[in-house]
Amino acid sequence: MTRHLHLAEWVNQVAAFCQPDLVHWCDGSPEEYQLMLRLMVQAGTAMRMDPMRPNSVFVRSDPADVARVEDRTYICSQRKEDAGPTNNWAAPAEMKATLTGLFTGSMKGRTLYVIPYSMGPVGSPIAKIGVEITDSPYVVANMHIMTRVGAKVLDVLGTDGEFVKGLHSVGAPLEGSAPDVPWPCNASNKYICHFPDTREIWSFGSGYGGNALLGKKCHALRIASVQARDEGWMAEHMLILKLTSPKGEVRYVTGAFPSACGKTNLAMLVPTVPGWKVETIGDDIAWMKFGPDGRLYAINPEAGFFGVAPGTSMKSNPNALLSLKANSIFTNCAMTPDGDVWWEYMTDKEPPELMDWLRRPWRPGIGRKAAHPNSRFTAPARQCPVIAPEWEDPKGVPISAMLFGGRRATVVPLVTEAFNWQHGTFLGSIMGSETTAAATGKVGQLRRDPFAMLPFCGYHMGDYFAHWLRIGASARPEQLPRLYYVNWFRQDAGGHFLWPGYGENSRVLKWVFERVTGGGEAIDTPIGRLPAPGALDVKGLDIAPEALDILMKVDIAGWLAELPSIKKHYESFGDRLPAGLNKELSDLEKRLLAAGV
Ligand code: OXD
Ligand code: MN
Repeated sequence: MTRHLHLAEWVNQVAAFCQPDLVHWCDGSPEEYQLMLRLMVQAGTAMRMDPMRPNSVFVRSDPADVARVEDRTYICSQRKEDAGPTNNWAAPAEMKATLTGLFTGSMKGRTLYVIPYSMGPVGSPIAKIGVEITDSPYVVANMHIMTRVGAKVLDVLGTDGEFVKGLHSVGAPLEGSAPDVPWPCNASNKYICHFPDTREIWSFGSGYGGNALLGKKCHALRIASVQARDEGWMAEHMLILKLTSPKGEVRYVTGAFPSACGKTNLAMLVPTVPGWKVETIGDDIAWMKFGPDGRLYAINPEAGFFGVAPGTSMKSNPNALLSLKANSIFTNCAMTPDGDVWWEYMTDKEPPELMDWLRRPWRPGIGRKAAHPNSRFTAPARQCPVIAPEWEDPKGVPISAMLFGGRRATVVPLVTEAFNWQHGTFLGSIMGSETTAAATGKVGQLRRDPFAMLPFCGYHMGDYFAHWLRIGASARPEQLPRLYYVNWFRQDAGGHFLWPGYGENSRVLKWVFERVTGGGEAIDTPIGRLPAPGALDVKGLDIAPEALDILMKVDIAGWLAELPSIKKHYESFGDRLPAGLNKELSDLEKRLLAAGV
């Protein structure tokens, strides 16, 4: 329970219309985590994986509830124009009326859990508190891993502290004697709604990932981006890594990449360049505030990883796999005959038999995937073998560089350094990526995903760009991180990746490190600064010179051909597009034309 009158009143009021059988205040204890696992096992939602993976469970969702649902996600700002062209909008009063109808009686036969959580180390000046109400034990267990839950959070909240209110229901009341299903949800009635003006989240009908673990995308990105705009800080869809040179010098780097584009892999990378070390601070979200020295300091607001499982292997990301040995939740993976998990590319050889994520027998060559492409692991960050000792430092870590990148088969070179903050903001604003399975919809279509925030910006994207420019204007250029556009996904005409990626990305990190520490040669090109010939360390790398050529060349014709689509993208923001970015676009065009003749 709480001494916070307003919180107590809100919980009472929600309980009155959701009509649960019981109300449970979460204390974040290990016993409570065990209770959630027991409840999930009893309900048929989960299977325990002891002794193979102690305190871990294997979960399969309803096939109609497997990813974030962007088309059912709303930003309900007072004014429609504040949601902007990239968000679905509904009037807050109308949406609340619809949702109140849906939530009324929605927790019948279930327990209402109150989860007080901190995004960020409890009590950090950059951290924020939220309270999620949910009727899902799966959500409680995941929130235990992904956030800091419990009594210590209520202590910081005191009697009148501010918090984000999150209300979640799977939307499947238990009436009469009808038995529960393993994964209750309301597939045809999902709503993921944000009320930025009042810092509220109402999520109905889905129990999966970002739809239901409200601390993550809903709070730490959509609502926090609005708070960050109002309060002069940044809430970004970025990993945070610590880079140590052979001489022991340390720099911190963030990276914005769209969902399922390798943020977790980059955050835990094992460098192939001798003597270099990468350690992890965070793999998905960065909150950054100016410190007393005028530099931007970042914290990871989360306490765990909710990572895409397929593709994760001892080769691609050993540190992620080693993080999953215990205390983890596996959702929609395939199961081996001895009760362990498996997913595509986890091992070189596919196991001879499996049970797929839909509980059907599976064998190699059967023609369908064994794990869902958006199957996930939830694991405590502290279990990562390369978690940086300072990952929970309440003051955060000073950021020297930010990377932006997406999946681009063509045009975008391996790495480009922005001329300055405004130019870097331009590069971030035009980022594009081929879509992945992290959200429902077509996979492989190119979409512009500015700063990897397209599904996560809680307000008008044009105003978000202006916020980036304001941040840049509020510090001296030498105090700001340098900005880089990277692309690990360039392909040749035959559709083969030109860059080996994974650990080899340390070569790009090394060049970035050298740039921000004063060395590192670059050449000016029409699109930004590229590594000077020989400046990118490719010693020992098995790559054809022609491939390297394509990766490091400015494709003038390709960029010129892309300008109309960038202009169209910019036009969609109307008069909210900052003039500075329009100027960057016309300057780019001029430089390209000058270079092309
Ligand atoms: C995630 C996502 O789960 O971006 O991190 O979809
Ligand atoms: Mn993400």
